[in-house]
Amino acid sequence: MPSLAGRSAEEVAGALAAFRSGARPATVMTRIAKGFSEDESRAIADYLAAGGAP
Ligand code: HEM
Repeated sequence: MPSLAGRSAEEVAGALAAFRSGARPATVMTRIAKGFSEDESRAIADYLAAGGAP
């Protein structure tokens, strides 16, 4: 699993949107991203960018 520490909210939210739409092929993330709405993805991305990244 890639580390998300230090990534911008735009990068994370953009990746989740691409996984969700299928524009970016992946193994597990396509399925995980489909579980979140656009707003929820943005909230997760903002949280991680604010220092919540594992
Ligand atoms: C809300 C929780 C999660 C978020 C926000 C998230 C976000 C991301 C992002 C932004 C990337 C792209 C990283 C890059 O460009 O290098 C990624 C890739 C990846 N993540 Fe997640 N992730 C989450 C949960 C998980 C979980 C639970 C797993 C494993 C069970 C996982 C496994 C992976 C893997 C294997 C990749 C590489 C792409 C793929 O093959 O699917 N992620 N994730």
